[in-house]
Amino acid sequence: MSEGRSFSLFRSARLAIAGLVTLVVVLGMVLLVASIRHAGQPALAQRVNALAGSKDECVSCHRTSTPGIVEQFGMSTMAAAEVTCRSCHEVTADHPGAVEHEGTYVLNQPSTAKCQPCHNAEANQYLLSRHGLPAYVAFAGTESLTPEQRLLYDRIEEARFQPNRARNALYHLEGPAVTRFACEDCHNVGRPHPDGSVGECQKCHLRHQFTLEQARRPETCNFCHIGPDHPQWEIYHESPHGIAYATDGHRWNWEAEAGTLSVNDFPAPTCATCHFGGFGSSGTTHDVGDRLTWFLFEPISLRRPGWEGNQMRMQNVCLECHNTNFISALYEDADEATEAVNAWVRQSDQILAGLQERGLVTDAPFDELFDFVHFELWHHWGRTAKFGMWMQGPDYTQWHGAYEVLRALAELEEMAHAKLATAGAEPPPQGATDTPPPGPTEAPGPTDTPPPGPTEAPPDVEATVEIEAGP
Ligand code: HEC
Ligand code: HEC
Ligand code: HEC
Ligand code: HEC
Ligand code: HEC
Ligand code: HEC
Ligand code: HEC
Ligand code: HEC
Repeated sequence: MSEGRSFSLFRSARLAIAGLVTLVVVLGMVLLVASIRHAGQPALAQRVNALAGSKDECVSCHRTSTPGIVEQFGMSTMAAAEVTCRSCHEVTADHPGAVEHEGTYVLNQPSTAKCQPCHNAEANQYLLSRHGLPAYVAFAGTESLTPEQRLLYDRIEEARFQPNRARNALYHLEGPAVTRFACEDCHNVGRPHPDGSVGECQKCHLRHQFTLEQARRPETCNFCHIGPDHPQWEIYHESPHGIAYATDGHRWNWEAEAGTLSVNDFPAPTCATCHFGGFGSSGTTHDVGDRLTWFLFEPISLRRPGWEGNQMRMQNVCLECHNTNFISALYEDADEATEAVNAWVRQSDQILAGLQERGLVTDAPFDELFDFVHFELWHHWGRTAKFGMWMQGPDYTQWHGAYEVLRALAELEEMAHAKLATAGAEPPPQGATDTPPPGPTEAPGPTDTPPPGPTEAPPDVEATVEIEAGP
């Protein structure tokens, strides 16, 4: 018995040692795998806090008052490059918006003017894009620009087809109590500041880490590029590119230095790769229109000025991962599909024009249901169909796009016939609402959108402001 017992004791000791050895080996392997997975990712965790030993007054005091800000900025590449709190916040006493603070003057929200001296190229590209003043003018109208801003606006090639824009009708209707949380929150990406500078870099570069990873992730764009009228976020998630991001993105090299990013870092693109990113042979740009062929947001899309060069630059990004035939064929098909949506929108305009001729709808925007249906047809469904085609979102092209356009057309026809019947008017001429063949839309220049009307600044803006027929 005692022999048996000592044998079993010996056996359990052996088992325990074997178990321990296995545990150590497994743990070692887990650590090894973890370290391999993170190799090549200069993750934030591996960065040193550049402000750890800082004696700077702002840093010392803010370590107590706002420790989060000091910690975040300390981990940034800018802090490592000796950019200080003062570089962005400190201004002279006469700087518009300056607040007196601890023996100096600071801006609570540094304007673009503070970033520009160090990031002139990025700022200039941004200012000449539709993320600049055009985004602000979209709700506020050109009448709200100062003479200096007007000069800047006129320099933006992709805004020239809208030289005079009235204040937006919905913006006007909804009123400032609401629009401060709606239109303005998104369109302020192009807002002018009291110091004359334009734009908000921090809409995409959240303070105070200012990491490339954060800017490159699609979530950054989804603050604005979301919802029924511009569902780029939803479409991206449906697309194979978005699937690659969602299923594999945790392995991508997000912090690869700007200008060196390539297929080795990202096997599939994010919004930023296609629209901003330096990728392979393409350089980084902050001009978001630089690679676009069409004005897709317009009711009837026309090609942009200089679209041939833009198209080549976008295709150069695609060609890092796809072959030429695949991309040319896709572009041809999407061009044709864009024209097909244009034709539907023209049809809805003809229905409207037929009623306007007979005085059966007013010129006032959004004063009856007909206006809302006519608006949604192009503004929600027509746009969504187009965005889906170009960014690989078939469900958006189909069920949130084309189908809804057709349904809205049927609804408009029915409303038009009811109005005509009530008024005892002649029905519209035969065929007026048939789909016209897609017309040529090659020529860059003014669109078919009805001109927004006079924009002479009226003496009392609130009472007599000119408003544009819709976003
Ligand atoms: C002696 C402590 C102290 C020093 C030194 C100090 N701050 Fe502050 N700072 C604070 C506190 C506390 C607040 C918060 C005030 C509040 O909540 O109203 C603040 C607020 C701010 C704000 C927001 C201002 C606003 O109106 O909301 C900024 C920007 C700022 N500090 C930047 C700086 C910069 C840049 C420096 C260095 C030039 C600096 N601070 C130096 C304590 C300090
Ligand atoms: C690279 C530019 C930059 C640097 C450097 C910088 N900030 Fe800021 N800071 C900003 C921006 C941009 C905002 C406004 C963010 C916004 O609009 O919400 C801001 C906002 C703030 C605010 C007000 C925000 C709030 O939530 O109350 C404080 C306080 C502040 N910064 C303190 C600091 C301190 C302290 C430092 C140095 C440790 C620092 N900042 C360094 C750009 C910078
Ligand atoms: C005093 C000069 C200076 C100011 C002011 C400044 N920056 Fe920078 N910024 C730099 C330098 C230098 C780097 C490069 C850091 C590096 O890559 O090593 C940088 C890098 C960056 C990066 C890239 C970060 C990365 O990891 O590569 C972003 C984004 C950025 N800055 C945004 C801003 C914004 C937005 C503002 C204004 C709110 C601003 N900067 C103000 C000097 C400045
Ligand atoms: C609409 C979003 C957006 C806005 C607004 C924006 N950026 Fe960027 N920025 C990005 C994206 C996306 C990247 C990453 C590009 C890449 O992957 O190569 C980037 C990269 C950068 C970089 C590093 C790129 C390089 O080539 O070194 C700097 C610096 C920078 N931005 C500064 C700014 C400044 C300054 C402003 C304001 C004048 C600004 N950004 C406004 C989206 C934006
Ligand atoms: C704070 C809101 C906001 C954020 C964040 C934002 N955008 Fe935009 N973007 C807009 C607005 C508003 C417009 C439309 C401006 C106009 O034409 O009136 C726009 C337009 C665009 C356009 C079309 C430009 C043109 O010339 O027609 C592209 C492409 C675009 N954004 C890409 C991006 C990408 C990619 C990101 C993320 C890196 C991003 N945006 C982040 C608000 C934003
Ligand atoms: C695979 C590359 C790719 C990705 C990823 C991508 N886009 Fe696009 N995007 C395009 C192309 C191509 C077009 C059509 C451009 C044209 O007119 O030629 C487009 C069109 C747009 C437009 C319409 C501009 C107009 O004229 O109205 C916006 C806005 C936009 N994209 C934003 C985004 C946002 C935000 C994301 C991420 C959620 C994103 N894109 C992801 C390639 C891409
Ligand atoms: C960084 C690499 C990369 C870039 C850049 C890129 N794509 Fe892709 N693309 C992919 C990957 C990966 C897939 C998924 C392939 C699959 O479905 O097996 C894909 C899939 C697609 C598909 C769907 C293919 C199918 O069989 O359904 C289309 C269409 C497409 N891409 C168009 C584009 C366009 C247009 C551009 C440029 C505006 C572009 N891509 C840029 C990597 C890329
Ligand atoms: C969630 C953010 C968001 C809100 C809220 C928003 N927009 Fe936009 N808006 C955008 C984006 C993003 C685009 C760019 C679509 C594209 O280029 O495809 C855009 C495009 C536009 C356009 C077409 C581009 C142009 O300049 O002609 C107009 C006009 C417009 N918006 C006006 C408005 C008005 C007016 C409101 C409020 C009643 C509003 N928007 C609310 C994000 C927003």
